[in-house]
Amino acid sequence: MLNQDEIQKIIDATDIVKLVSNYIKLEKNGKNYKGLCPFHSEDTPSFVVSPEKNLAHCFGCGGGGSPVKFLEQIENISFMEALEKLANFNGIPFEAKTNTKIDNNTKYYKIMQIAVNFYKKVFESTEEGLNAKEYLHQRGLDDDTINDFNIGLSPKPGDTLYQVLKESKILELDMSDVGLVDKGKNNYYDLFSNRIMFPIYNEDGNPIGFSARIFNNNDKNTAKYINSRETLIYKKANVIFNLQNAKGNILKNKRVILHEGQMDVIASYRSGLKEAICTMGTALSINQAKLLQKYTNHAIICYDGDKAGINASLKAINVFKSLGFIIHLVLLPNGMDPDEYVLKYGTLAYKEYFLSNLLDTNQYRFKVYTENKNLNDSNIVNQVKNNCFSLIAEIKSHTEEEDYLNRLSKLLNASIDAIKNDYYSYKTNIYLDTNQYYDNNTYEPTYPTYPEIKPVTDCSDYEARLFQYARSSRTVAMRIENEISEFIEGLSTIGQYIWIKLIDYYNLNEIYIDEDFIKMLSEEQVNYYVLILEKIKKTIAPFDDKDLEDCVEKIRTNKFDTINHELVGKIISTDDVTKQSRYIDDIFKNKRNQAELIKKRRK
Ligand code: UTP
Ligand code: MN
Repeated sequence: MLNQDEIQKIIDATDIVKLVSNYIKLEKNGKNYKGLCPFHSEDTPSFVVSPEKNLAHCFGCGGGGSPVKFLEQIENISFMEALEKLANFNGIPFEAKTNTKIDNNTKYYKIMQIAVNFYKKVFESTEEGLNAKEYLHQRGLDDDTINDFNIGLSPKPGDTLYQVLKESKILELDMSDVGLVDKGKNNYYDLFSNRIMFPIYNEDGNPIGFSARIFNNNDKNTAKYINSRETLIYKKANVIFNLQNAKGNILKNKRVILHEGQMDVIASYRSGLKEAICTMGTALSINQAKLLQKYTNHAIICYDGDKAGINASLKAINVFKSLGFIIHLVLLPNGMDPDEYVLKYGTLAYKEYFLSNLLDTNQYRFKVYTENKNLNDSNIVNQVKNNCFSLIAEIKSHTEEEDYLNRLSKLLNASIDAIKNDYYSYKTNIYLDTNQYYDNNTYEPTYPTYPEIKPVTDCSDYEARLFQYARSSRTVAMRIENEISEFIEGLSTIGQYIWIKLIDYYNLNEIYIDEDFIKMLSEEQVNYYVLILEKIKKTIAPFDDKDLEDCVEKIRTNKFDTINHELVGKIISTDDVTKQSRYIDDIFKNKRNQAELIKKRRK
């Protein structure tokens, strides 16, 4: 750490006029300089810079101070960071390292805490506070809960909070920065009024914002909730309501419960599910899910049971899935949200329902695709079927797949055979639409073509070249055998038999001689081998290691084409849709293996 003298040296070396001029335009005014204050908006300059005192100060809002103070404020950085910046600015080496992470937002948290206390006091000690309390009681919240969540009340429109903050020597600039107060024409006014105030905390338990609910106003045009605007400390895409309280319970219970609104979180909390949290009127973001992942890998999504809640759930599933969470969902009956359920049936019934109705994502999707649908409408039946098929096609386990097909058949009152038929033709269509082949050079998916029928009377170039290399020496033959023995199907059917015999030959003989080898082959094999030798003669080329490797790779990847080609043959020659569907699955698997193989070798 730096000592006081070193700090003073950095400060004294500063030309404050030069420093401030980096941010605002200054004009000379006697001994001093003057400009428009960067910390609040004004039309006539009240920001004064004094080179003599090495100070900058606003007579309007009180902002500014020493060069370090000025930098802290204008850059929103910590004291040490400002000092370092200043040292650089003055060309003074700066070696101090701070060990502890300084949260330079402390001053904002302090302001927010004053507001939390103030709103609580209004709640406790005013007539309107009694009404607010009465409202919350009606919604089922007892005083302990109200206290646990530090719920408060903002007073009637005006500047009461502003005055309180002012008394605490808070700068207007800072009040406005945290979204509590704004400046009107010639006065400051509170941004929240006549609303029940739910403080929002960050992960570490510092107050960062509010969610404010109306309670005595039925006007349809008034927003039900107003949340803090985006500020330096309140970024709604990162905010998680109640995380500061829930995190211990999340760790303990090894799961987090995600709700849509804070009243639902409070309902869960009252029911003893204290690991509940929510986002603030926004869809779950990846950042929020990552923050939760610090504590657990298991998420239970319990959004409103209405259409919007279901859509939001399907999105949240994807966010959690992308981070590898274990996911469960609870779907409340009749489109209810947790808070409505608790109010209607009580906390015990809610907890009971919640814990005995956990669905995995497949069960949940099946439920939302099939429940409350008018199955007399054939369009809707088709939609239900397609939605369910899209779900079933993603299922890896055959028994589970079977199970869902049975359930669908019961639900639609259709025979299982008819459902399966529809399902397999759905899958076949999807396959034909989206079957992706991989380009061997770019690994990019290409559009489907069935593998060509391979003529068995001709040998392919690479197959011939492979035999050419293998004929050159036993060592080379054994090296090739090593690499292709598991991929032998990549050779033509007859080529496979000849290859096996060639290896047999080398197991008995050190030196390769055509005439001796041919004695081991059947007549059909000899005919084919002649084709190979003819081809070799025509394309005779010197031994080339790289070419050998290419041929090997071709054989290896070819294995999958060959098998897939056979599968396509099988698909065409059977009418059994169950089998067809299995073959299609196998083709997909082979394509993936093939792509993997190519990627691995190219790496
Ligand atoms: P909901 O409309 O589902 O509210 O909004 P709720 O949780 O059922 O609220 P109560 O029970 O009527 O009090 C869910 C969340 O969306 C945000 C809030 O954070 C709320 O908790 N929201 C909602 C807003 O930000 N603004 C609004 O006007 C409404
Ligand atoms: Mn509600």
